[in-house]
Amino acid sequence: MTIDKQFIDRFINVSSKAALASSYLVGKKDKNAADQAAVDSMRSELNKIDMTAEVVIGEGTLDEAPMLFTGEILGSKNGPSFDIAVDPVEGTNFVANNLPGGISVLAIAEKGNLFNAPETYMNKIATGKIEKGLIDLDYTLEKNIKNLANFNNKKISSITVCIMDRPRHKKIIDELKDLNVNLRLITDGDVLGALYVTDPKYKVDMYLGIGGGPEGVLAASALDAFGSHFQGRLIFDNDKEIKEAKKMGIIDLHKKYELNEIVKGDSIFCATGITTSDVLNGIEIKDNKYISETFVTHKDSNFKKIIKKINHINE
Ligand code: FBP
Repeated sequence: MTIDKQFIDRFINVSSKAALASSYLVGKKDKNAADQAAVDSMRSELNKIDMTAEVVIGEGTLDEAPMLFTGEILGSKNGPSFDIAVDPVEGTNFVANNLPGGISVLAIAEKGNLFNAPETYMNKIATGKIEKGLIDLDYTLEKNIKNLANFNNKKISSITVCIMDRPRHKKIIDELKDLNVNLRLITDGDVLGALYVTDPKYKVDMYLGIGGGPEGVLAASALDAFGSHFQGRLIFDNDKEIKEAKKMGIIDLHKKYELNEIVKGDSIFCATGITTSDVLNGIEIKDNKYISETFVTHKDSNFKKIIKKINHINE
């Protein structure tokens, strides 16, 4: 079964409108308001679509979030059944502080096909398309870098690794420096960080490190359409997180998830720029129109494009 192509446009419309809603709050130093505006818009637009979509990754549990909570059913309930993962604003700091990289994101798969990741961290590794067994979360960093350099026919000193600039990554960053690898340190936004491996024009050979688990699922759904490599392993910091994960049916807490265990079958991924980055232009408003750019993938039709749209603001 595939997801009908007619949904591509519908979901572009959803992430574009959420990005527009949040764009009014760019640079207003209020992450929560920027997020809330996108949440409200996303929920209302998703409810207009003929589908029954269960939020598997959203704004949290019902007691934490009244909208887009995990388990919420969205859509007109006439139409196909989907799993949906949403991040109405990914990079809330970017939007609040008017910095590059704020995006509005969603991913859709057929019912039961998207990994219901708990709100924990995930250790991730991503590269472009490679041979099976070449890169692995369980290999040493040096082995992964050497294998990738060999595979890409590059010197280690020409390999670029994108990683979040966090104290938890000090050891990895020091080791990458010792190996003479180029670093691309990001302050936030590891969905976009992982997307860099999809095209050599972004000049990132490998994404790695610990970021949000939900963000890992979103990134994986986009990477799947490119045949990229992605693995993730959840990290649990306390008993509450472990209890929550067990409640969600996760038995093996140390499991390494392959991409095809995170997203199965067909999927659609949309990420619209709120603030401009090297991947997407942010929302631009001109008179009563707005221009949006959305990074879109639809796995089964092999559709992978950045779609620019001009729409009336009140449409
Ligand atoms: P928000 O948009 O929810 O603020 O998340 C931004 C982000 O940088 C994600 O891209 C990333 O996965 C996560 O936060 C990393 O978390 P932390 O800031 O705790 O390292």
